[in-house]
Amino acid sequence: MSAVTGVRAGLRSDCLGAALPAPRVSWRIVDAPAGAVQDAAELRLVRDGEVDSVALDGADQNLVDWPFAPLRSRERTVLTVRSRVAGEWTAWSAPLEVEGALYEPHDWQAPLVMPSASFPHRTRPSWLLRASFTLDEAPVRARLYATAQGVFVPSLNGAAVSDEVLAPGWTSYDHRLRYRVHDVTALLRAGENVLGAELADGWFRGNIGFDGGVWDEYGKHVGLLLQLEVTGADGVARIVALDDAWRTAPGPATSAGLYEGEVHDARLLPPGWDAPGFDDAAWTRPELRQADELAARLEPAINEPVRVIETLAPVSVETRPNGRIRLDFGQNISGVLRVRIDAPAGRTVTLHHAEVLEDGELGTRPLRRAVSIDSFTSAGEPETWQPRHTVHGFRYAELEGWPGELGDGDVVAAVIHTAMERRGWFACSDPLLERLHENVVWSMRDNFVDLPTDCPQRDERLGWTGDIQVFAPAAEFLYGADGVLASWLRDVAAQQGPDGWVPNFVPWLECGFPSGASAAWGDAAVVVPWVMWQRRGNRGVLERQWPSMTAWVEHLLLRIGADDVVEDSMELGDWLDPAAPPEDPGAARTDKYLVASAYAVRSARLVAQAAEVLGRAPERERYAAVADRVLAGMRRRWLDDLDGLAHAPTALALVIGFDLARDDDEQRRAGALLSAAVREGGHRVQTGFVGTPIICDALASTGHLDDAYALLLQTECPSWLYPVTMGATTIWERWDSMLPDGRINPGDMTSFNHYALGAVVDFLHRVVAGLAPAAPGYREVEIRPRPGGGLTSASARHLSPYGEIHVSWRIVGDELALDVELPVGVTGVVTLPDGTTEAVASGSHTFRGAARAPRKETLR
Ligand code: BGC
Repeated sequence: MSAVTGVRAGLRSDCLGAALPAPRVSWRIVDAPAGAVQDAAELRLVRDGEVDSVALDGADQNLVDWPFAPLRSRERTVLTVRSRVAGEWTAWSAPLEVEGALYEPHDWQAPLVMPSASFPHRTRPSWLLRASFTLDEAPVRARLYATAQGVFVPSLNGAAVSDEVLAPGWTSYDHRLRYRVHDVTALLRAGENVLGAELADGWFRGNIGFDGGVWDEYGKHVGLLLQLEVTGADGVARIVALDDAWRTAPGPATSAGLYEGEVHDARLLPPGWDAPGFDDAAWTRPELRQADELAARLEPAINEPVRVIETLAPVSVETRPNGRIRLDFGQNISGVLRVRIDAPAGRTVTLHHAEVLEDGELGTRPLRRAVSIDSFTSAGEPETWQPRHTVHGFRYAELEGWPGELGDGDVVAAVIHTAMERRGWFACSDPLLERLHENVVWSMRDNFVDLPTDCPQRDERLGWTGDIQVFAPAAEFLYGADGVLASWLRDVAAQQGPDGWVPNFVPWLECGFPSGASAAWGDAAVVVPWVMWQRRGNRGVLERQWPSMTAWVEHLLLRIGADDVVEDSMELGDWLDPAAPPEDPGAARTDKYLVASAYAVRSARLVAQAAEVLGRAPERERYAAVADRVLAGMRRRWLDDLDGLAHAPTALALVIGFDLARDDDEQRRAGALLSAAVREGGHRVQTGFVGTPIICDALASTGHLDDAYALLLQTECPSWLYPVTMGATTIWERWDSMLPDGRINPGDMTSFNHYALGAVVDFLHRVVAGLAPAAPGYREVEIRPRPGGGLTSASARHLSPYGEIHVSWRIVGDELALDVELPVGVTGVVTLPDGTTEAVASGSHTFRGAARAPRKETLR
C-alpha cells in the first residue's frame, strides 16, 4: 500500500519557528506499485481548531507552494498530506507540527542584554548571565526565542536548552542575525526558575580573518537576546519580563577565540549559578538595550543547527618523550576534544591540535595565526569538559599536563558541523577511489560549520565564494546542504555592492584581501542558486536570489571591454594550477581573462535560463544576448585559434564544459587537443580551481573516457589519488600539501582540508556510477554508467526529493549488469555502454549488455 512519508515544510527538518510564514511543502511516497505516479494530493492544515484542506492536481510533491494563508507569528498548526497514487488515496501522513516564528519586528520585546565593557584587541573572557523569575504555575507551553551578538550557550534551571554548538552561527550580522525557537516547556516549573547563558566573542567581536584579521567587526559589545514566552492554563502566551532580573559575572573561560582556542578555569564557575537558589547579590547588572533597531535584522534560522554529530575515539595513543600524550583520531575533522578529567584543584591540562605530523611533531605551521590550543584548569572535582566557544581542524592532539594515566574513553574527539541529512553515497571496486570519495565527504562535513567555508583550521575558515561555486553540485548530492546554502546566499545578496560586486568571501571582512570581484568566485551568486534548482528543484531560491543573480551579471557588463571580453579586472584565474609557484597561486597556464570571460558567458546563460524558469522573457533575451556578445569576443580573442590553447588544459576544458565551441567539429577538436595535453602531462593534474572540477567531464564527453579514468586513477603527484596514497583523510588545498618526502608544502597557504578539488566526486556519481539528474530535482534521471579504468563495479545512491535513487553496475565477463531503482515521481532513461537505450519508470529494473562501448564513441 502506498504511503506518504518525510513531510516537510521549509528546508529544516523541524518546523518549530518556521523560517518563512509560507514554507514550501515536500513529501515522499513509498511502497507504491512499480510505475505508479501521484495524480493528486491533498494538504490539510489544522489551525485554531479549524480544518483547512486544499486539493492539488498532478504529480508535484517537492517544495510545493504553501497553499494556505500564511502563518501568523507564533501560530500553531498541524499539517498532514495524502496522495492519490494510481487512483488510490494513501492514508494521511504522520502529522507535522508547524509553528510560526516571530515575523513582525514588534514581536520582539526582550532587550539585548550586554554584560561587558569594550576590550582591547586580545582574546577575551566569556560572561555568565542569569535571570531569576517566578512562575505561579508550571506552563502548558513555553518557548525561548534565542540569539546573541557573540556565541552563546543557554540553559534553564541548569539544564541545556538545546544541543546547538556555536549558536547563532555566522552571518553578515549587519544585515541578518538568526534566532532559533526552543520548546522549553519541560524545563520550567512553578516557583523560582533561572534562565542562564554563557556568552563569548565568537565571530561577532573576536579576531577573524587572515593577515592579522579584524577585531570587533560587528560591534564592541557582545549581547544576549532571549525572549521567553509562557502559556498558562488560560491559553494565553505571555512574555516573561526579565529586564530587571538580569545579572552578570565573568565566565569560566578566561579567554575564548574561534582561532585561538579556549582557556577554561573550572574554579571560576560558581556551582549552581544557573539554577534557583543561587545568590547573585555580588553579580552586576548588565546594560540593557531595547532591541528595536536589531529587530529588523532578526530572522528565524533557515538552516539546521551546528551540533556535535559524533565522537571519535583515538586510534592510537602514545606518550612522547616530553611527557605529552599524543592522540591520533585517524580522521581529520572539525571539532574539539571532550575530556574526562579527575585532577587536583588548580591542575591545568593543555590541549594542542594539528592536522598532520612533520618530523615526528605536530605540524602547526599551516594553522598560521590560529593557535588552536585549549586548556582546562580543574576545580578539584571529576569533570567532563569540552570547549564551548571554539572549534578546530585536526586529526592529532597532544595533552600536556594530563594527571596520571589516560584511561579508555577519557578523551574523544567531538565532530562538529551543521546537522545535515546524508543524501548521497558512492562505492566502487577501487579502494583508493572509494577513499577519495570518503575524503570528500569528510571535507564537506568539516567545512559546513554553519556556512560553506574554505577550510576549518587556519586563520581563515571563510565563506570563499569560489570554493562553494565549484563544489555545490557535489555538496547537493552528498548532504542536505540546502539550508546552509540558502542562508549563505542571503548574505551574498546582502553584501553585494550597489554595482553588483560580489565579495570574494561572504561574510566579507576588510582584512587586506583585494576587494575586486573575481570570476569563478563572484559567479557563485549565479551558479549556487542554479545548482540548487537543478539538484533539488528549489525554485524558491531562484526567485529569492534573482536580484542578486542579475546584479552579478550586470556587474560583469561593467567589466567587459571594447573587445567584448572581460579584461582589466582583479582575477584569481585558474587558482592553484600546479604549474604556479607556491608563492603565486594565481600564475596559471590559462589566461585569467579567458577564465573570466568563459564564466561571464556561463553566468549570463544561466541567468537567461533562470529567467525562462521564472517566466521573465525580456530578461531572458537580455542575458542571452550578453552571453552571445562575450562568446563572440572570446572567439575573436582566443577560440578561433584553438591550437593556441593546446598548452592550457583548463582553457580547453572550459571550451568543452561551458559549451563555447562553434559546432561539434570544434568541440571534437578541443577534445582531441585536451586529450593530447593530458597525455603529454602523463595524466597528472595540470589544472587549478577552475579546470579541475570539469576536466574529466570534458574528456569523457568528447570521446576520451580512458584519459578521464587515467587522470582519476593517477597516483603520482599531482593527482587526486596522490594524497590518498599519502594517508590523507580529507581533500587537500594543494595537490602536494604534503610533499612526497613527508614534509609540509612550504607555501603559506597549505591546508589539509579544502573541499574545492574534491568537486570531482560529482563525476564519480554522474559518469562513473551513471546517476545524473536530467530534470530539476531528479524528476528525470539519466542513467548512463561509463565503466573504464579497470573498475569492475560502481554504485551511487541518492536521496532525491522524491526518494532514494539507486544505480549499481558490475562487470561479469564481457557483460555489464546494471540494477536501477527509482522512487515514485522519478522517470529515467537508461543507456548502456553498448548504446542500448530504454525509458524506465519508478520501481526496480535490471539490465545486461556489453560492458564496453562500440569502438567509436559518440560525441556527447
Ligand atoms: C582560500 C581559498 C580561496 C583563495 C582565493 C585562499 O586563501 O583558502 O580556498 O578560494 O584563498 O584567493
